[in-house]
Amino acid sequence: MVDIFKKCFDFPDAKFVKASGLYPFFKAMEASFGTTVYYEGKPVVMIGSNNYLGLTSHPKVIQRAKEAIDQLGTGCTGSRCLNGNTVLHDRLEEKLAALVGKEEALVFATGFLTNLGTIGCLADPESDVILSDAENHASIIEGCRLSKAQVVTYRHNDMLDLQNKLKEIPSEKGCLIVTDGVFSMTGDILNLPELVAVKKTFPEARLFLDDAHGLGVLGAKGEGTAGHFGLTKEVDLIMGTFSKSFASIGGFVAGESDVIDYIRHKARAFMFSAAMPPASVATVLGCLEVLEEEPWRLENLRKNIRIIKNGFEKMGLAYLPSDTPIISVFVGDEGKAFTLVKDLFEHGIFVTPVCYPAVPFGQALLRTSYMATHTEKELDKALEVFAKLAPQYGILRNQVEIPKELTHRTQTYSFDALLQGA
Ligand SMILES: Cc1ncc(COP(=O)(O)O)c(C=O)c1O
Repeated sequence: MVDIFKKCFDFPDAKFVKASGLYPFFKAMEASFGTTVYYEGKPVVMIGSNNYLGLTSHPKVIQRAKEAIDQLGTGCTGSRCLNGNTVLHDRLEEKLAALVGKEEALVFATGFLTNLGTIGCLADPESDVILSDAENHASIIEGCRLSKAQVVTYRHNDMLDLQNKLKEIPSEKGCLIVTDGVFSMTGDILNLPELVAVKKTFPEARLFLDDAHGLGVLGAKGEGTAGHFGLTKEVDLIMGTFSKSFASIGGFVAGESDVIDYIRHKARAFMFSAAMPPASVATVLGCLEVLEEEPWRLENLRKNIRIIKNGFEKMGLAYLPSDTPIISVFVGDEGKAFTLVKDLFEHGIFVTPVCYPAVPFGQALLRTSYMATHTEKELDKALEVFAKLAPQYGILRNQVEIPKELTHRTQTYSFDALLQGA
């Protein structure tokens, strides 16, 4: 027998980076005021979080969380199915279903568990095929693995490839198309209109949309990617998390009542995991109230995205095209990305690197992301620091070539061509 822990003792990667003093992960925050956070006693401008609407420190949201603790205590101490359900969970499900325009919603303890539980119980090993975008989130990949169904990956946002792969599915099989609405590392928006055109030619295929980064960002009311395109009816299941715009933790899936009821009784990640704590549920309810009462947040978020994109464009930075708050900068070399992150931090800017295996080796990015509550002063500071450091790190467009696959992201075909190909 060999020691199962041997791989741990031999694991060099993190130790090596820590020894170099450049390890950028697990930094412990001491205080947060949304756009400004404190590390090691020092304030820095946060451009590395998913707090898109800036609601983590909103007084009403905090108040709702406190009221929930007073009413229901700090934890649910069990599964919703048994002893852990509360009136707040039920109310939240109603509100979420209304927000995304579906019959019913089901709230899980995290977004990861939502994907694991939902995809894991919907697709069957023998009879179903899952078609999954190549850049889907890790929790989708794990949900696919859990289901043990055949998984076919199609090229990122490439609807012709999706169509070709759909054609290969035997007629006796079921099919679930699974995709992010906004892709988490690069901020690309799903080409939903073309996906829907393709799907219409395979009427039995079902579509599951993970809108973790689209909710509270896209759509007239922040209802997400499907609403943004006016295609809510064409999406069978919409999934979201509360760990981004909704300032909490937890997740949900919404769709037709019968389908949600099946998931409620079959998803083991739901049935056998404790309920979200009352304060976390009330936080999301508070966020939904604020989303309705303060539409300026969505407008401001969009304005801030424009300010940053204009700034990056003017300085000639090698950033990836995006219309969402996620605007990634291409660095390439992993070591250079870590050094740059440290340098940015020392200049008062918090940002996170994205490196292998989240992206291909040698294609490291800095994932910058913005909030509705960033002030122009904070954004100007971030732009100033980037303008100062970018030339010395060689991350201007005239210094580094962004791989084509990162810039030509949304394949566009004519609907007619897609329909003829079906
Ligand atoms: C696209 C996507 N789906 C699902 C998840 C998982 O959600 P959570 O972190 O809330 O569990 C994430 C989190 O990063 C995500 O980006």
